[in-house]
Amino acid sequence: MTMTREGIARQILTPTRRGSVAPFLVMDVMTAAAKAEAEGQSVIHMEVGQPAAPTPLSIRQAAAQALSDGQIGYTLALGIPELRQRIARHYAETHGIEVPIGRIAVTMGSSSAFILTFLALFETGARVAIASPGYPAYKNILEALGCEVVFIETTVATRYAVTPDMLAAEHAKKKLDGILIASPANPTGTMMTPEALKALVEAAQAMGIRFISDEIYHGLSYEMPCHTALETSEDVVVINSFSKYYCMTGWRIGWMIVPESLARSVECLAQNLFISAPQLSQVAALAAYEATAELEVIKAGYAANRRVLLDGFPKVGLDRLLPVDGAFYVYADVSRYTNDSLDFARRMLAETGIAATPGPDFDPYGGLQAIRFSFAGSTAEMEEAVRRLGAWLK
Ligand SMILES: Cc1ncc(COP(=O)(O)O)c(C=O)c1O
Repeated sequence: MTMTREGIARQILTPTRRGSVAPFLVMDVMTAAAKAEAEGQSVIHMEVGQPAAPTPLSIRQAAAQALSDGQIGYTLALGIPELRQRIARHYAETHGIEVPIGRIAVTMGSSSAFILTFLALFETGARVAIASPGYPAYKNILEALGCEVVFIETTVATRYAVTPDMLAAEHAKKKLDGILIASPANPTGTMMTPEALKALVEAAQAMGIRFISDEIYHGLSYEMPCHTALETSEDVVVINSFSKYYCMTGWRIGWMIVPESLARSVECLAQNLFISAPQLSQVAALAAYEATAELEVIKAGYAANRRVLLDGFPKVGLDRLLPVDGAFYVYADVSRYTNDSLDFARRMLAETGIAATPGPDFDPYGGLQAIRFSFAGSTAEMEEAVRRLGAWLK
């Protein structure tokens, strides 16, 4: 039987293997939370990894001015020079490091910086190590680009950090081409000490493993300052974003610092893949550096929220927590209550109105015993969450 033209088209228009990435389970939680809210339930949103606070007014005003001026077009692929210069100043002021603007690329959030980095650094088939638990898009982007992901399981013993020994052991089994780490990390909120970060950068370089540092949660640390991998070496790729500390998730704006040797490749890739980051968002990002007073107030709110949860959770039975050095997450071990955190999250939402993210988004194995609570909301919500959990878990 001959197939119709439509039949042939339908048969070939199917997703590729690399296009079939796993969904974020958190999206299912968000859908269920929206449904519960529509039905009149009071929901505390602790599932989303973004600031509840709006983008500071001064940033929005800078964007409004640019809008009324009307010049919203393509920019240079690596970004407007004023913003790249301002980012360079940020490294000089915050870390005492001189970064030539030729090594700075403005990107559409850190998400597009990952794509540029992986394409510039890795051939298909390259083996790239990431920590588990970790941010799920690392794996999904790497695999979509034809790389092989090597999970390095981390535990509380190393504060969920990859150590030089762990990296060497994995490299000895089969050669690694790269490693990507985040500090502060998502979902655990843990940070590497400056010594641990330095040791890992040096160990990776000695083994010929390319080092990528996701520093998106920089600015959000509670116990120690954030250190960049650039303090150890300029031969690393550093990825950062205006999404978290600067409360600009929806503006899709971030940046990366690359070694001289990669700058031209990243520029040509950016020209072809994205042309440029949105000009409006670049103007807004430039203004973000003047919004420190407002941003520090928002951060003080996170610090208060963190205190409420770290004091309150153990009293209601969630006592297996990490210190939460940075970011705005508490990753709680719920193995006392369940071996299925997906079911736990579903019931918690239905019975208490608290929406949080089940661990398998971040760790396919151990994640079944963990829940990530985001504390990027208000302190009153955090207090209410502790109260509701106390009543529910007793
Ligand atoms: C660790 C980490 N890296 C990167 C991202 C992506 O952020 P964006 O593309 O908004 O910069 C996120 C978002 O939640 C994250 O948690």
